[in-house]
Amino acid sequence: MKIYKTKNYEEMSKKAAQIMAAQVTLKPDCVLGLATGSTPVGAYGHLIQWCKDGLLDFSQVKTVNLDEYKGLTPDNDQSYRYFMNKNLFSGINISMENTHVPNGAETDSQKACSQYNAIIAGMGGIDLQLLGIGHDGHIGFNEPGDSFELETHCVDLTPLTIEANKRFFEKAEDVPRQAYTMGIRNIMLARKILFVISGEDKAEILKKSVEGPVTPQVPASVLQLHPDVMLVADEAALSLMKL
Ligand code: GLP
Repeated sequence: MKIYKTKNYEEMSKKAAQIMAAQVTLKPDCVLGLATGSTPVGAYGHLIQWCKDGLLDFSQVKTVNLDEYKGLTPDNDQSYRYFMNKNLFSGINISMENTHVPNGAETDSQKACSQYNAIIAGMGGIDLQLLGIGHDGHIGFNEPGDSFELETHCVDLTPLTIEANKRFFEKAEDVPRQAYTMGIRNIMLARKILFVISGEDKAEILKKSVEGPVTPQVPASVLQLHPDVMLVADEAALSLMKL
């Protein structure tokens, strides 16, 4: 794991965006695995700016997002599809048909998940997967205890995740109880992983993930076994690590 230590969230965002931009420049028809949550928003802002400035071209890029709430349609402003359109896709010159998010509107979980696995396989896998982390160590929505061998599947969100994500909804009861997520297997098959973390509140889980034992109880710990992970984290997030 290559660790980039940054001063703060802004520097973390710029560094992460530079790594993503380098991927797009080196392979203009690359497949980017994308993430939601508040952490990647700053990096997406840089990509939008560089694209507007004519420094980056997304016209051949394809994307696959990690996850989506089951039951939310794309026009729901809490859906991850809506989030991605708003925070990235609408600001760059990507073809919308090249962007993929699990189909939250599909009630048949098996169908939604197998279709998504087929999409990823059809694109030849993921060149660079962007990842954030939840406070319980979840990546995508792979919650503690989920098998490392799973591909895209339907998960029951844990109370901790519902609590953490309720800030985006009017009230906790509005947070969907289930989601479709790429599995750890899909993530681990990505050729490169860009792991972004900011803030003191993530310091403990980051330490566990990087310095603790590899265990499904801490889903992000599996990244210790991936051959090409770039961790971009700010001082606050890295504050408990030995380095
Ligand atoms: C959600 C997403 C994750 C994300 C996590 C952390 O649960 N499914 O992909 O990493 O939130 O979000 P934040 O970056 O807002 O802390």
